[in-house]
Amino acid sequence: MNELRQVFRYKQLAGEIEHKILNETYKPGEKLLSIRKLHKQSNLSISTVYKTYMELETMGLIEARPKSGYFVNPIALKQLKAPVFKKKPPTPRKVNLSSMINSVVSAINNPKFLPFGNSSMDADLLPSKHFSRILKEISHKDMKSMISYSLSEGDLELRRQLTLRTLGILEGITPEDIIITNGCTEAVALALLAITKPGDTIAIETPTNFSFLQLLKELGVLVMEVPTDPRYGVDIDELEKILHQNRIKTCLFMPNFHNPLGTIMSNDNKRKLCRLLHQYEIPVIEDDISTELYFEEQRPMPLKAFDERDLVLTCSSFSKTLAPGLRIGWIIPGMRFKEKIQRLKGGITISTSTLNQYLITQFLTSGAYERHLRSLRTALKKQAIRTTLAVKEFFPPDTRLAVPKGGSFLWIQLNPNVDGVKLYRKALDHNISIIPGVVCSNSRLFKNYIQISFGAPFTSRIEQGIKTLGTLISEYYN
Ligand SMILES: Cc1ncc(COP(=O)(O)O)c(C=O)c1O
Repeated sequence: MNELRQVFRYKQLAGEIEHKILNETYKPGEKLLSIRKLHKQSNLSISTVYKTYMELETMGLIEARPKSGYFVNPIALKQLKAPVFKKKPPTPRKVNLSSMINSVVSAINNPKFLPFGNSSMDADLLPSKHFSRILKEISHKDMKSMISYSLSEGDLELRRQLTLRTLGILEGITPEDIIITNGCTEAVALALLAITKPGDTIAIETPTNFSFLQLLKELGVLVMEVPTDPRYGVDIDELEKILHQNRIKTCLFMPNFHNPLGTIMSNDNKRKLCRLLHQYEIPVIEDDISTELYFEEQRPMPLKAFDERDLVLTCSSFSKTLAPGLRIGWIIPGMRFKEKIQRLKGGITISTSTLNQYLITQFLTSGAYERHLRSLRTALKKQAIRTTLAVKEFFPPDTRLAVPKGGSFLWIQLNPNVDGVKLYRKALDHNISIIPGVVCSNSRLFKNYIQISFGAPFTSRIEQGIKTLGTLISEYYN
C-alpha cells in the first residue's frame, strides 16, 4: 500500500513539473530546486523526489549536470507550431491510390528498416510471454475445441469481456450487440459492405489512414475528403456543406487518436457531429482502435456514446494494445445493421480463429489487461515526449508538429520545399522507413508532410534515425 502511495505521489509530482515545463512556467535551462529543498518544500520523502527527477530525466524534460543539480532541458521548451489545416473544395472522386503505397507497405514490414513507418507497437511492448504461457497450458482435450469453428458472431466469453469494458462508457451494451471480426479492418469492411454499394459516395477525413484508401478502392466507392484539423478533428461546418450538396451514404471517421494526425475530438464536437448526422440520417463508421492509448487521466468517449439514433457503428481491435498478428477485432454495429453484418461475416469468413479468440479471452480474464495497458501507456507517453524532443532538436526550426495526447503517431509538416516522397526514398537509403504524407490523401495533398510512429522504445538508434532525417530535410534548405 505504501509503495502504491509512493508511486502515485512521484507520478503526480512528475506530472505537475512536466506541465509547468511544457506550459513555459519554467525558463529554458532554469535550475530546479535541489532534491533536498524540494523534499522540505513538498513534505515528500527524499526518495519520492529523487524518483520524480529520474522520471523527468528519462523523459528528456530535465537534465542532470554533475555537481550542479537538475536543469530544465532547453529543447523541451522550444515550441513548434501545429501543422496547418489544408482546405480544398472537395468533390466526389474515385480512389486513386498513390503509386507509392506498395513500396510504403513493404518498407513498413521490412525489419531491416528503423520502424518510423510502422503502425504497430514494438513487440517488446506487447505481452508475448503471457500468450506463450496460455498456449502451453492448453490441454489436448481443449485443443479439440480450439481447432473447431467458433460461432460466427464470436466467442461468448470474449464478447462478455468486451461488454464489461464498455461499462460507464456505452450504456446498455450486451454481448449480443458485439460481433468479433478479423481485426479492425474486417470490422470496417463489413460496415462498409452493409451500408454501401459500388459507386456510392463516402465522406472520409483528409488526411486519413492510407489503408482505408486501399479498402475503399477495392469496394469501388467514391470518396469525398473532408478537411480535418490536427487540433480539433473533422471540420463539422465543411461536412455540413457537403451533406447538404451531395448524397453521402456514410462517413468513415477516427474521432479518437486519428491516424495519422493523432487528434482527439472534444466531447462537444462529437456531440455536434452526431447531431448533424442524425439530422441527415447518415450512418457513421467510427474507427476507435487507439482509444486505450491515452496519455491523460481518462479514456476518451467513443462517438457512439453521443448517438441517440442508432447510427454509429463502432469498430476496434486488439491490434494496438495486445497482438496485431492474432487479428482479433470487433464491431458494435447497432440494431439497424446488426443482422446484415452478421450475415456478411458468416458469408465471407464464416468465423474468426477460435484459438486466437481463446488467447485474447484468457488474457482478459486473467486480469492482466489493465496492468498491461497502464505500462503500455506510460511507455508510449515517454516515447512520444522523447521523439518530439528529438524532432525539436534535429529538424529545422520551421517544422510544425502537434504533440499528441495519445496514440502512437506524429504528423509533421515540413518546409514547402521538402518533397515527402523524395525524403521517403532518401530515408530508405539510410534504412529508415517513414510514411510520406501524400499516401494519406486521395488528392495528392500533404506533399511536404510526413508521418512517423513512436511505437518503439526510444533508443540511441531511434535518436540517430531522427537526427539523420533532420539532416536529410536540411539539405532542402541549401
Ligand atoms: C486507425 C487504424 N485502423 C485500423 C488499423 C488496422 O487494424 P487491424 O490490424 O486490427 O485490422 C490500423 C492499423 O494500424 C489503424 O491505424
